[in-house]
This record gives sequence, C-alpha cells and structure tokens, in this order.
Amino acid sequence: MSKLFNIKYAFLSITVLLIVACNSNQKKSDTLSSDNPFEEKVDSILSLMTVDEKIGQLNLPVSGDITTGQAQSSDIAKKIEEGLVGGLFNIKSAEKIKEVQKIAIEKSRLKIPLLFGMDVIHGYQTTFPIPLGLSSSWDMKLIKQTAQMAAKEATADGINWTFSPMVDISRDPRWGRVSEGSGEDPFLGSEIAKAMVEGYQGDDLTKNNTMLACVKHFALYGAPEAGRDYNTVDMSRIRMYNEYLPPYKAAVDAGVGSVMASFNEIDGIPATGNKWLLTDLLRDDWGFNGFVVTDYTGLYEMIPHGMGDKYQVAELALKAGVDMDMAGDSPAIPAAFVKTLKQSLEEGKISMSDLDTAVKRMLTAKYRLGLFDDPYKYCDLNRSKTEVFTPENRTFARKVATESMVLLKNENNLLPLKKSGTIGVIGPLANTAVNMAGTWSVATKQNLSIPLLEGLKTVAGEDVKVLYAKGSNVDYDLEYEKRVTMFGKDIPRDGRTDKQLLDEALSVASKSDVIVAAIGETAEMSGECSSVTNLQIPQLQKDLLNALLKTGKPVVLVLFTGRPLAITEENEKVPAILNVWFSGSEAGLAISDVLFGDVNPSGKLTATFPRNVGQVPIYYNHKNTGRPLGNNDGKFEKFKSNYIDVRNEPLYPFGYGLSYTDFTYNNLKLSSNQLNPNSSIEVSVNVTNSGNYDGKEVVQLYIRDLVGSVTRPVKELKGFQKVDIKNGDTKTITFQLSVEDLKFYNSNLDFVAEPGEFEVFVGTNSNATLKDTFELVK
Ligand code: BGC
Repeated sequence: MSKLFNIKYAFLSITVLLIVACNSNQKKSDTLSSDNPFEEKVDSILSLMTVDEKIGQLNLPVSGDITTGQAQSSDIAKKIEEGLVGGLFNIKSAEKIKEVQKIAIEKSRLKIPLLFGMDVIHGYQTTFPIPLGLSSSWDMKLIKQTAQMAAKEATADGINWTFSPMVDISRDPRWGRVSEGSGEDPFLGSEIAKAMVEGYQGDDLTKNNTMLACVKHFALYGAPEAGRDYNTVDMSRIRMYNEYLPPYKAAVDAGVGSVMASFNEIDGIPATGNKWLLTDLLRDDWGFNGFVVTDYTGLYEMIPHGMGDKYQVAELALKAGVDMDMAGDSPAIPAAFVKTLKQSLEEGKISMSDLDTAVKRMLTAKYRLGLFDDPYKYCDLNRSKTEVFTPENRTFARKVATESMVLLKNENNLLPLKKSGTIGVIGPLANTAVNMAGTWSVATKQNLSIPLLEGLKTVAGEDVKVLYAKGSNVDYDLEYEKRVTMFGKDIPRDGRTDKQLLDEALSVASKSDVIVAAIGETAEMSGECSSVTNLQIPQLQKDLLNALLKTGKPVVLVLFTGRPLAITEENEKVPAILNVWFSGSEAGLAISDVLFGDVNPSGKLTATFPRNVGQVPIYYNHKNTGRPLGNNDGKFEKFKSNYIDVRNEPLYPFGYGLSYTDFTYNNLKLSSNQLNPNSSIEVSVNVTNSGNYDGKEVVQLYIRDLVGSVTRPVKELKGFQKVDIKNGDTKTITFQLSVEDLKFYNSNLDFVAEPGEFEVFVGTNSNATLKDTFELVK
C-alpha cells in the first residue's frame, strides 16, 4: 500500500515539475497565426493525461449553478477537480472566477487552467449599440475601440474568452439575428470582422486586458430559408465564396483564436459535423490554427438533424474538426463528448490521435492566453471597481451610439430640434431603460441604461418643457407582447384601455410644439429565435403614430429596431425619422444629442430597408439578370424582372443615411483609365459640405465588373472613408484600386481578376451615379 502510494506520489511530483517547467518562459507576443510555439509543452502535458482528462478538456458546461462560496461544493466543482472540464461559460466576477480557477489549479491532478467564456457581444457592462447599429457607424477605429473596451471590462470581471464577433452576412431582415451582425455586405463585413478581432485580442494575448475572440457562426448562419432561425441553408459554392465566407476568412486572417460552428447545415451536412467546412476549408485552405467550439448544444442537435445516434454525432463532430463541446454536459442533453467519446475510442470508432488533436488545440489556447503562467491573471479583485462602467467608458459609449444612428428622413429640416418650447415624448419605448441596450447584452445592468425620456430632459436644458405619455402598449396581441418582452426586458402592460392611453397621449400632444414618437421594436423582437414574417411596426403603435400625425403637430419618429423594418407608410407620412437601433447603455442621452443637433447624424445603413416583406431577400449587390428593367423610375415592364404590385427598389438602399447638412460630390477622376496587374489606379472625388452644419460623411466607392466568366453583381463596395467636413469646406477624397480589389471566385473557385472593362462609382450611398470607367489589361 505504502509502496503504491509512493509510486503515485513520485509520479505526481514529476507531473507537477513538468508542468511548472512548461509554464515558465512563455513567449510573450504570440500572434495566433504563427506556428505553434507551445508544441513541446503541450505534448509533454498530453503525455501525462488520462483519456478522461483529455475528454474533459473538450468539455464546456454552462456554469449557472456556481455562486461565490458555493463553488467548492457544486457538481461542477467536483468535475473540475477530476479534470473533466475544459472551461466554463456564463460565470462572471473576478472573485467567483478566481474561486473556480483555484479548484482546477489546486485540486485537479494536472492543474490545467480553465477558460471562462461569455457572450460579450456589443460591450460588456458599458454597452454599445447592437452590432447592426455599430456597423452603421462605418468607423473601423471606433468599432475596434469598442471591442478593446469590452475586453478591458470583461477581463476585469475574470472573463478571458468572448463569443464574438458574429460576422454572418444576412440579407433577410425576417431573421432576428440580423441585429447581431454587420449587415449584408462582404467587404464591409470583413473590415468589421478584422477590427473586432484586433480589438478583443490586441497584439498580445498574454496581457490581462485582452481576450480570446471567437468568430461565429461558421458558416452561412445568416441565410436560413424563409428567415426562420435555425432553418436549413442551401447555397451554391460560388455564392458562399464570394458573398458569405469573406468575413469569417477576414477574422481568421486577423488571427482569431477560436471559431464557433453554426447550427445550420451546409451542403446537407450540419456545420458541426462538416469536415469540408471545419477542416478542409478552415484549416487546410485558410490556415486557421485555433480551436473550434460547437454552438450551444450544436453537437446534440445533429441527432434531430438526422445524422445518427449520440455516439455517431460526437464521432462525426470530432472527426470533422470540432474541439470543444458547448453545453452538452447537462443531464437534459443526451449527446456530448463527455458522454460518448471514451466508448467510441474503446470501440475504435475514433482514434487516440483524433482525440489528441483536439486536446492539443485546447491546451495551446490556454498557453496563448498565458494562463499556464498565471491562471489568475484576470482575477484582480480591484480592477472591476475602476475599469467597469466608469464615467469615461460611458462617455465613450454615448459618442459611439450617436455615430450609429441613421437619419432616414428630415422633411423641411424638422430636425434638429430647438432647445426651447414644449416637447411631447410619446410611445411605449420612451421610458423603458431595460429596452435600450438591445439583444445579447448579458452583462448590462439593464435598469441603469438611460431611457429616452431621461436623456431628453438632461440634454434639453432648462428652456425646454418635456411632457410624457406612454401612448400605447407594445401591441394589441397580448401573447405576442409577452413573447417580445422577456428576459427582464419587459414593458409592463399598462392596465388602462387603449382609448385611455391614447387620450392621454393626445392631451400631451395638444400641449406640445413638437412630438417625439418613441416607437418600434422592443429589444427582444430581434436577436436569437426572434424571426418574423411581418416587418412592420406593431399595429397598435402604428395606430398611435397615425393619431399623433392627425393632430397636425410636427412628429419626429424615433425608431427603435434591431432589423430593417418595412416602414413605407411611415416614410410617406412622418416628416422626420431617426433610426436609433438599440444604442446601448447611454441610449437616451445619445438619441437626445442627435435630436438636438449637438451631434450631427452620420450613420449609414449596412442592410437594405425593403418596401415590404415580399421583396426579401433584398440587397444592393444583386445580379443584373437577363431581363433587367429598362428604367430606374420603378415603372412596371411586362416580361422584365419586376413585381406587378411593388417596385423593385428598396425603401432605403444600402449605404443610405442623411445628415443635417448636405454633401455634394463632383470632379470624379481616375489617375488612369487602364489598370495593369502590377499597378493601381487612384480614384479621387471632391466632396463639399454645402449645407449649414459641420458634418461627417461616409464616402463610398463601388465597382461593377461589366463582363465576366461568371455573372457579376451590379455594384460591389470596394472602399469607404468616413470624413469630417466643416460647413462650406471641400475635401478631396482618394482611393486606390488595385487588381486585388477586382478579384472574385470563378466557377472553379479560383480567386481571379479578369481583364476587361469596369465601372467605378463614388457617392453617398449604393445608388451612387457619379461614374467613370477603366480597363484591366493583361
Ligand atoms: C448562440 C450563440 C451564443 C451561444 C452561447 C447560442 O444559442 O447561437 O451565438 O454564443 O448560444 O450563449
């Protein structure tokens, strides 16, 4: 007995020595794209691991049941002690995380630190606009800074891994998760993917204020049939490569440390079990060298997809290239790596090398984060007091929010509002703090967000009287209303009748010089599992708006939304419309900054707004077809590609957004009308601020490849610049175009530029007509 004990003790001592040796001298500036500098260290730990411990590294349970003080005794604590857990998610606070990390470090045999993941999507406690809103800023520096700040706050709370950025291209606003992405364009989406990854990960992941990013949902999750979440995706390879894959690739090129497999199928195989996707494309073609995690229960979901039993789906996932299984380790979920892989290994269905490959990737990630060196590096208990939700962070979030808002209409310059007189703020979204941050704001203290009413009172100053009425509930349909006011983001149903609420609103309206109608979606109307078939504002709120318009008072519609809405009727009737998305914890102040003109709006849409839901999917970079319309006036033409009941063009195109000032474009010049493969062309244009305010403009450059070996889009964004132009000034904006900008995937999926004629357009949105041409010569 004592001999046995001694042998075991000796073995453990060697183990500890080895791990300590492995932990020291870590290279400080690993970029994730280099070859694995930790290979030897990883291999030496691997050689000590039991099969159970190996499978444990691939296990990512949800840690909802751990609270401070309880950590030692919870079920998960026991599993951590036994080395059966690789990371946890949904646990926050440096104190709690330290306590849990201690279990791994002090009680588990091999002392392998844990990852702590969370959905840090658009900020942490300081919350920025929803990603679709953030993308509307078209400001890459700002977007990167938001990710940096999110990383700083989240890591101060102990978290070292975020499930962001979400880069799924979507052209279908029925899909609720369109709110979580950057819209419809692969070029802009790629720039944003890069900015976000760089923001989260910084240039040194071993610092304590950077974190591992996870690009998701790989892949094509934004194209579900009929816009219904989790639904089938079916897409040609050529469309995939040209239109949907670029942002994921951009994240990989930027060195993203992890990738999340999507729920949907691709070419008939769920992404989670799709070897072509997760290995051939991601690793072999793109050179990704981080780890792949499933989406929540994605592994188990291959059973209802029809891919086999619990053993078969886990084998499929592992062999396809999945390294970590999210949320499988729960009694309610029948399939998980921890529940099947051991048996599959014993039966020879998977090999030790399949398992080792995944384990190595998990250990490498922990090395990259510097966790072996200092497992408590994110557990400084004082940091959160001085780094989270600070006044400086909130001031920054307020600025970011103003940059994301899109002025959709402003007849007779109704906006900006004067800081005098009486303003009636009316609508169910006017005074609801919890609906300001929007979907996926898990670390936001929802009650601390600033609602519009409070923001207006603060920003308006003493000369403005602000009156308020709720005006209506969210919708006539009580059941629907319940579905869209959940997760603490409620708007308590007002017990008064619709008529009583309306009467109060009309009385406020009668005393007001101008009405600000706070109307649209609640925060939970978009986001995961919030697909719709109707893109209009809920009828009850439409009726309220119409009643307000009937008073004859000027009405400004402050539109809250997580998706492009079909507001054709409102566009006809309401003189001013400001789309504010869900703009984060400082929403009310930021909206007011824009309404009063303290900030001139400069946001531009990154997703097309349709006239009606029947036009969906609708996007600017479509193909011409063999029967394009012969006119741009929306006139119906028989036997051409159009509708008999609605014109083809959207309500607001991609790239659209007004300002309180006007910008005029002229003098488009190309440095040459010929481009050869080794040179570039300079495109320049003069942009004049010809209105009455200083302002920012997003200058956009599009090309059209007129003839190709495959059909090419009518326009493709290839450059943009957000510039500050003072009232009366003119700036010359220049872009460089090289052969790289003209490349696309042809029918062999080769990335090529084909000689021939190209058009180049520069302007204020994707309808830009200022145009020149050039030729790509051999
Ligand atoms: C979502 C992911 C998210 C994960 C973890 C899933 O339901 O699809 O986007 O990261 O849950 O919360």
